[in-house]
Amino acid sequence: MPKCTIDGKEIEVKPGENLITVAKRAGVDIPVFCYHPGLTVVAQCRMCYVEVEKMPKLQTACSTMAAEGMVVKTQSDPVVKGRAGTMEFLLLNHPLDCPICDKAGECDLQDNSYGHGSAYMRHSEERRTYVDVDMGPVIEKNMNRCIHCTRCIRFGEEVAGIHEMVAIKRGNNIDITTIDGNPLKTEYAGNYADICPTGSLTLRDFRFRKRAWMLKKTATVCEGCSKGCNMEIQHEGNVIYRCVPRENLEINKHWMCDEGRFNYHYTQDPTRVLTPRSGEATIGWENAIQNLKDLTDGKKITFLVGSDLTQEELATVQEYINAYQKGSSIHHFGTDGVSESVDDGQADKILKMKSKTSNLSGAEKLGIKSISHLKTATDVVVVIRGGRADLNVALKQVQGKKLIGMGVFLEKEISTFSLVLPGLAFTEKEGTIINHAGIEQKIKRAIVPKNTVKAVSEVLMLAANKKAKEAVV
Ligand code: SF4
Ligand code: SF4
Ligand code: FES
Repeated sequence: MPKCTIDGKEIEVKPGENLITVAKRAGVDIPVFCYHPGLTVVAQCRMCYVEVEKMPKLQTACSTMAAEGMVVKTQSDPVVKGRAGTMEFLLLNHPLDCPICDKAGECDLQDNSYGHGSAYMRHSEERRTYVDVDMGPVIEKNMNRCIHCTRCIRFGEEVAGIHEMVAIKRGNNIDITTIDGNPLKTEYAGNYADICPTGSLTLRDFRFRKRAWMLKKTATVCEGCSKGCNMEIQHEGNVIYRCVPRENLEINKHWMCDEGRFNYHYTQDPTRVLTPRSGEATIGWENAIQNLKDLTDGKKITFLVGSDLTQEELATVQEYINAYQKGSSIHHFGTDGVSESVDDGQADKILKMKSKTSNLSGAEKLGIKSISHLKTATDVVVVIRGGRADLNVALKQVQGKKLIGMGVFLEKEISTFSLVLPGLAFTEKEGTIINHAGIEQKIKRAIVPKNTVKAVSEVLMLAANKKAKEAVV
C-alpha cells in the first residue's frame, strides 16, 4: 500500500483518500469549513491549508489526494499564517455574537477562530447585516453569521435531492436563500442545521431551549421506521431537547429525516397516560394487575403486539403466553398497508421506509404472524405497543371487544380501552431491534421513566406472580 508522511508520521493511504481523511487516521486534525465527508468537495473556504513538499503554494487538504511519498506539514509557519488569514477574512462580516448564538459550544467557526485565528482585528468597516428569516417550520436563518461554505446548497442538491438553497448576489452582498424565498420543502431539513458550521442555520424546535454544552448524549437508534437510522438523544435534567443523526455509513450515512428527528416529542407529551386506568378512573398498580388477572386468567386471549416493541419485549410476551395463557394467539401490527416485511420498501429515495415501526423484521424473526392473519379475535384483547405502531390498524380488527392496553398511549387514544397499563417509551428502555435489512441494533435508555409506568416484562411478571400465588392459596 502507498505511504505518505504527515507531520513526520508515516501512514498508509487508500486510493482516492484526501489528506483530511489520512491525517485524521494519523491523529492529526485539520480544520475545515466547506468540507463534509458526505458531500462533494469544493475547496472554497481555504481553511484546510497544508504544506506539501515540492508544491510551490499552500494546498487545500480536502481537495488534495494523498499519494505515495507525499510529505505533508500541517503546522508549519506558512500554514499557520495562511489559516489565520482565512479566519480574518471569514470574520470580516461576522457579528461575533457567540454569547447569544444557539450554535455556541458546538460551532466550527468558534472553535477554529479560537484555535487558528487572531485575537485582534485590523479593520473597523461597517459589517453587513440581515434580519433573521424563518425558512419554513424547521430552520431559522441568520445570514449575518454565514461564511458561504455552501454545505447547505450541496446538501439540498446531493442528498435531499432538491435544488432549493442557492447563493444569490456576489461578493460582500452574497445571500444564501431558498429559490424565490420559498419555505424549505425537503423532509430532511433538520440536517441543514447539523451541517451548517456556524450559527446561520439553526433548528427552530431547539433554538434558545438549552446551551449545547449542558446536554448529555445517548447514542441510540431512531424508532421512526424500519430503516434504523443511528441517532443521538440529547437531554438534560431528564428532558429531551433534540435528536441528531449519528454516522453509520452502512445505514443512514450522516443523515436523518425530520419525522424521525422530531418523533420523540410524543414521549414528552403532557397528555401521555402515565398512571394505570380502569375506564376513566386512575387506579394503583396493585388494582391494575388484579384487573389484568381477572380479565385474562384461564382464558384464551388475542394478543396484538406492536412491531415497535423490542425483541426482548416480544419474546417476553411469547413466553408469558406459553406459560400462563396457553392457547392464546399473538399477532403483530404496525403500519397501515405494511402487514409484512414483503410489503415494506423505500418510501423515498433517501432514507425513509414504508414501515413506520422499527422492528417489523424482528417480530417476524420470532415467528409472530401479522394481524392480517387474525381470523376471529377473542372477547378480551390485549394490545401492547411501544408508541409508534398505528393503533387504528389493531383496533379496526377487534371492534366491540374488551380491550386491555399496555405500553405508551396518549389520552385521546384510550377511550375504547377498559384497562390501560402505561409502559416505557423507546427513549426510556434498552433493547434490540432489527431493521429492514436484517441489521440488529441496540436502543439505549436516555431518560429515567416516571415511577408510575412499568416495563412490559414487569407487568407480565407481576401478573404471573399473582396467578401463581392465588393458585397456591
Ligand atoms: S448557511 Fe451555513 S451551511 Fe449554508 S453557506 Fe452559510 S455557513 Fe455554510
Ligand atoms: S428514515 Fe426512518 S429510521 Fe431514519 S430518521 Fe427517518 S424515521 Fe428514523
Ligand atoms: S475545507 Fe478545504 S477548502 Fe474548505
